[in-house]
Amino acid sequence: MRMLTPLQTSFLCLSSACAVLAQAQQSLPLNSLSTFSGSSTSNPATFGLPASSSLTVSVAICSSQASSESFFLTNGSDIFEIELESGFGSWTGPSSNNASLVVESAGQSTFEVAVSDNGTIHEILDALPLFGDSSANQAILFSPPFAFETTTNPTYPNYTLPLANSSLPEAPPSPTFDLVLAPLSARLTSLPQTGCSLANMSSAGTVGLNNTWLRGSGEWRSQWLVEGLSPETNYTAYVIQDQVKVSGPIYFVTKSSNFPCPLVHSLPYCPSTAYAVPLDPPQSPALAYDATSLPTNISDPLLQYMTNFTTMLLTFGCGRDLYSPLQTCSDCRREYRSWLCSVSFPRCSEPSPGSNAQAPFSALQPQPSGVSPRNPFFPVVNYTYNSLLPCLEVCHAVDRACPYFLGISCPVPQFNADASYGVGFIDSGDPGVVGQGTTGMAQDRWGNVWCNGN
Ligand SMILES: *[C@@H]1O[C@H](CO)[C@@H](O)[C@H](O)[C@H]1NC(C)=O
Ligand SMILES: *[C@@H]1O[C@H](CO)[C@@H](O)[C@H](O)[C@H]1NC(C)=O
Ligand SMILES: *[C@@H]1O[C@H](CO)[C@@H](O)[C@H](O)[C@H]1NC(C)=O
Ligand SMILES: *[C@@H]1O[C@H](CO)[C@@H](O)[C@H](O)[C@H]1NC(C)=O
Ligand SMILES: *[C@@H]1O[C@H](CO)[C@@H](O)[C@H](O)[C@H]1NC(C)=O
Ligand SMILES: *[C@@H]1O[C@H](CO)[C@@H](O)[C@H](O)[C@H]1NC(C)=O
Ligand SMILES: *[C@@H]1O[C@H](CO)[C@@H](O)[C@H](O)[C@H]1NC(C)=O
Ligand SMILES: *[C@@H]1O[C@H](CO)[C@@H](O)[C@H](O)[C@H]1NC(C)=O
Ligand SMILES: *[C@@H]1O[C@H](CO)[C@@H](O)[C@H](O)[C@H]1NC(C)=O
Ligand SMILES: *[C@@H]1O[C@H](CO)[C@@H](O)[C@H](O)[C@H]1NC(C)=O
Ligand SMILES: *[C@@H]1O[C@H](CO)[C@@H](O)[C@H](O)[C@H]1NC(C)=O
Repeated sequence: MRMLTPLQTSFLCLSSACAVLAQAQQSLPLNSLSTFSGSSTSNPATFGLPASSSLTVSVAICSSQASSESFFLTNGSDIFEIELESGFGSWTGPSSNNASLVVESAGQSTFEVAVSDNGTIHEILDALPLFGDSSANQAILFSPPFAFETTTNPTYPNYTLPLANSSLPEAPPSPTFDLVLAPLSARLTSLPQTGCSLANMSSAGTVGLNNTWLRGSGEWRSQWLVEGLSPETNYTAYVIQDQVKVSGPIYFVTKSSNFPCPLVHSLPYCPSTAYAVPLDPPQSPALAYDATSLPTNISDPLLQYMTNFTTMLLTFGCGRDLYSPLQTCSDCRREYRSWLCSVSFPRCSEPSPGSNAQAPFSALQPQPSGVSPRNPFFPVVNYTYNSLLPCLEVCHAVDRACPYFLGISCPVPQFNADASYGVGFIDSGDPGVVGQGTTGMAQDRWGNVWCNGN
């Protein structure tokens, strides 16, 4: 937003026949969102605005064609230009009841105007969508978190921890989320980065599952399982919240057409497990494995490990005796579950198509066909795949969060830790240096996945 100088004010007055003083065509009420098309409004078009001590007017371009519209606002005493960046812009300030918005040269373009006394409406969110994983033609994606789990910490002497197989708590109310997905060739990033512009451009996949999920980190997100994607394709994804808030872009790449592993998702006992696993294809019509279709000879022992671990943990005076100034038995259980799930569900992956350019390489380990996977409860599959090893930090988190007597120990980098874990990506390979790894994270927004951090 920019306040115009007196000179520019008179220029505006000349160029648009003193549009700011012209009769408003229409009044825009408080807390409303309206869509207009240049072809059905006059040029310039004037809209009356309400009086408020803190009015926000935000505009968003919906058309994909280049256009030359400009937006001016008078709050009753001063004139401002609302400058657009990435297709949207906003003004906030006090206004009187003769305030108005003037739109010049809208041509054929379509635009939205939002009027609010409660902050911005159109917005690019800082929080990004989350890529779960892909197969050759499916992908699991998550919205940014919209709520955080609220649990009251258990207290001594009634220190109870959830059962291994407890179901998800009831979901808090969710904003509406829309997923926008298209291959790179659709050039979504060259469009105005507004909900109304992007929403119509989703050009890939069909949504096979669309619900709300609580991941292990305690974040409530919307999740999607998308099918019908093309193999070995780099996709651009956005999530649009309540039609007006844009999150993204992120990128992800589908696997090659002969990638053999199906996806698994929506396991209440392993709530962050949403990736490709070495199993035979699920029985039709299932598209992927979930808690109802996963073989019980995989889930039963996992639940038993979890139950036994919790029993052992509770022999410690949880909530009475402190073993750390920072960690509780509840934290220990959460980190153990996260580790148990990531070692119990081997993750399939493959070198990314542009892997010559990919530095560093992902923690992939070839798994020949017919060889038992590390989790003895997984069946032996008749195909070859690459296993993406868990990030070593998943183990370190258990080590840090749990009482010493449980005897948790993670392999050390000098002694072969990289045979079973991805080492040195998040934290440096030298013991004790947190956050100095080569990538600093398990995966990035560009579609690189270095180790299994779930
Ligand atoms: C977007 O799609 C809606 C409904 O499909 C349609 O009414 C609208 O004109 C489209 N907008 C643009 C800018 O293409
Ligand atoms: C708008 O109203 C304010 C007071 O409500 C007045 O001072 C101002 O002159 C008016 N502006 C125009 C352009 O009519
Ligand atoms: C218009 O905005 C300016 C700058 O925020 C402010 O000083 C002025 O009081 C506002 N005018 C009205 C009529 O609210
Ligand atoms: C104003 O915005 C805040 C946060 O953005 C929200 O919690 C609140 O409900 C809104 N109030 C109204 C009246 O819309
Ligand atoms: C212990 O806590 C659980 C869950 O917080 C509760 O359901 C149970 O009634 C409590 N038992 C006692 C004896 O307070
Ligand atoms: C977990 O509990 C649900 C009911 O809450 C049950 O339907 C399901 O079979 C249980 N899963 C396992 C693997 O025991
Ligand atoms: C997802 O579900 C919500 C409501 O459950 C619905 O409004 C929305 O259109 C669905 N989105 C897709 C892409 O299917
Ligand atoms: C869990 O504990 C039970 C009873 O102590 C035992 O029979 C079982 O083998 C244990 N399971 C695992 C996976 O350790
Ligand atoms: C688990 O059960 C499936 C069929 O239900 C079977 O194919 C597989 O071999 C079993 N795995 C193990 C390790 O027993
Ligand atoms: C591998 O096993 C699956 C299911 O068990 C079977 O459908 C498929 O034909 C087998 N493939 C080969 C190459 O043996
Ligand atoms: C996907 O495309 C984006 C944009 O060109 C690029 O930055 C990114 O590296 C690509 N991702 C992969 C995994 O190749």
